[in-house]
Amino acid sequence: MIIAHMTPKQIHVLIIEDNPGDARLIELMLSERPEDGYQSVFAVRLGDGLDAIAKQPFDVILLDLSLPDSHGLGTVQSVLDAAPSTPIIVLTGLADDTTALAAMKAGAQDYLAKGQGDGETLRRSIRYSIERMRTDEEKRESGERLRRALMQTIQAVGLTIEKRDPYTAGHQQRVAELASAIGRELGFEEERLEGLELGSVIHDIGKIAIPSSFLNKPGRLTDTEFALIKTHSVIGFDIIKDVEFTWPIAKMVRQHHERMDGSGYPDGLKGDDILLESRIICVADVIESMASNRPYRAALGINVALDEISRNQGRLYDPDVAKACLKLFEDNRFSFTTQVL
Ligand SMILES: [Fe+2]
Repeated sequence: MIIAHMTPKQIHVLIIEDNPGDARLIELMLSERPEDGYQSVFAVRLGDGLDAIAKQPFDVILLDLSLPDSHGLGTVQSVLDAAPSTPIIVLTGLADDTTALAAMKAGAQDYLAKGQGDGETLRRSIRYSIERMRTDEEKRESGERLRRALMQTIQAVGLTIEKRDPYTAGHQQRVAELASAIGRELGFEEERLEGLELGSVIHDIGKIAIPSSFLNKPGRLTDTEFALIKTHSVIGFDIIKDVEFTWPIAKMVRQHHERMDGSGYPDGLKGDDILLESRIICVADVIESMASNRPYRAALGINVALDEISRNQGRLYDPDVAKACLKLFEDNRFSFTTQVL
């Protein structure tokens, strides 16, 4: 009793094991070092184990894969779902390496063959698993921070371009909102959506090299001026082509003015030769531009923009992308949240 009070840190262990002999042996092994402060809770069935997890947090879970109410790898998954940040050490009855390795792939931190190894092996495995889980968690958090910083940096770059061009302030952000919604509608996974959002937020980055007097010109542009503005997609590509993104951001930027029938620029690409992300940004770009004020005209409104997409789906715009976009508006499932700055 006194030892329990003096123990500076306790290690709470959940042992899910239906064999009373094995459970007793584990308890003995842990009690060999009372100074480590092991506090064990036993469960005979998976269901009991999950109940225990719901009641209190554990530092580690020792898990037998063959229980009265659960067998095999599904057992690991059930425990992982209930306690995703608690390390699991699998206890295998036989020296079955294949199952044990599969359990590790499924998310277990370590495995031990029951009846083999001594108390020190078990305790070392527990300490190692807790430490590794903590390190993994820290890595995950720092990766998440880095990802957020990247996203914010790219957004800052996007804003920088828009600061020069008051008429298109917020344009890229709104294009990103719509492009992401279309990507989601098309079944993109989160990872791919993230790339699509990044590409959208800087799709006009090349405009940084275009004189702002052209971008803000109230009247019609001359052919020469328009030709110069059209260079922004290649300039954007050149600016970011050497950045080692995990997504093809530079290509997204280069191809966002390409059209399905080959009438776009800069390369006159057709159909599937155009990156799907660029086909999405293209549709979102047309909608956002037509729905907003421009130096040379007032906003045409969302209905005119949707009509443009509808009339030219298949010819200028990817039919699946167009359909997904039109459906979003039809079902009232999308509206721009970013305001004009
Ligand atoms: Fe553009």
